[in-house]
Amino acid sequence: MRKIYVFDTTLRDGEQSPGVNLNTKEKVEIGLQLEKLGVDRIEAGFPAASPGDLEAVNAVARAVKNATIIGLARSREQDIDAVKEALKGAQDPCVHLFLATSPIHRKHKLRMEKEQVLETAEKAIRYAKQYFDKVEFSPEDAGRTELDFLCEVTAMAIRAGATVVNIPDTVGYMNPSEFGHIFKTLKSEVPGIEKIQLSAHCHDDLGMATANALAAILNGADQIEGTINGIGERAGNTAIEEVAMALATRADFFQANTSLTLSEIAKTSRLVSKLTGMVVPGNKAIVGANAFAHESGIHQDGMLKEKTTYEIISPDIIGLKESKLVLGKHSGRHAFREKLIDLGYELSDESVNQAFAKFKDLADKKKDVSDEDIRALLEEKLIDTPE
Ligand code: KIV
Ligand code: ZN
Repeated sequence: MRKIYVFDTTLRDGEQSPGVNLNTKEKVEIGLQLEKLGVDRIEAGFPAASPGDLEAVNAVARAVKNATIIGLARSREQDIDAVKEALKGAQDPCVHLFLATSPIHRKHKLRMEKEQVLETAEKAIRYAKQYFDKVEFSPEDAGRTELDFLCEVTAMAIRAGATVVNIPDTVGYMNPSEFGHIFKTLKSEVPGIEKIQLSAHCHDDLGMATANALAAILNGADQIEGTINGIGERAGNTAIEEVAMALATRADFFQANTSLTLSEIAKTSRLVSKLTGMVVPGNKAIVGANAFAHESGIHQDGMLKEKTTYEIISPDIIGLKESKLVLGKHSGRHAFREKLIDLGYELSDESVNQAFAKFKDLADKKKDVSDEDIRALLEEKLIDTPE
């Protein structure tokens, strides 16, 4: 089984979610939880962005011992110096340099020709190598970069000493087949590619961040970058928990896995949601409130007979106690009877039938029927309700 390295950027790209601002204490709390989750690398922030972020990255670097701590830098000496300062005290520091390479970014943002891009990036990587053993380089907007130029940039980064080359789909424009093709081409065309790790960094603008990350893995990526709950710029980044669970659940297909402690996923998700204020949608894969909830009678009946009929992941794997059978208008008698037993009611078949009819009337008027609603129903003179 091939190991896929997990690079968590919740504290950097995740913090770039509009409205999110984490203070030093919050970053350290999340960093320590990410360490428990077992991510390999933590991008703690962008030290040149503000003195507060530099301080926060430094605090994470000092607190977290069992992960590589990374600071982001533009391809400029003063940004690299800021990362150097921020990562003082880190056991395993790494700088993450980026420079845009796509024609749109070269023309409108950087106003640079290809040659200048190559020179600027090479100079920055060589400068960083004086201070860091580990240097990651990202050709920003790699997804929209000409593939032959991307090969040239990657070869330059390897020669200059980068240890990881990360391929960002900065604007979430790729689809799995195109993104996979980039990795396949880099792997086969770039001299020296076997000396470095190739990484995938996807955004979710078209809802394909997880699929694109998995396509990269199938085509040779060694590392995936993402955030907890998929938070991040605009529509967000690849959700780490989704990739980890896709690999763990379908190891037969991917022949690759992360080394995350999967039972820490639910806790990590809750902490990130609480501290960022970004609510996890109920239907979000793996960590949404409904991810292990079943409402329809047919599904509930199946679940009560054998859980694997409707669950491909057991909730305890991600650290949740159990799946939920939610009572609503699609629920059936089997789940209703189980709920009565759970609530301490031992009713005759006749009383169950009466109560079930009342429950269906109520469920037509209400989205979810709560335990309190059911108790109230039973207080309405059923034959053998408990005293
Ligand atoms: O999306 C992106 O291109 C980035 C880079 C800084 C890697 O976040
Ligand atoms: Zn990004």
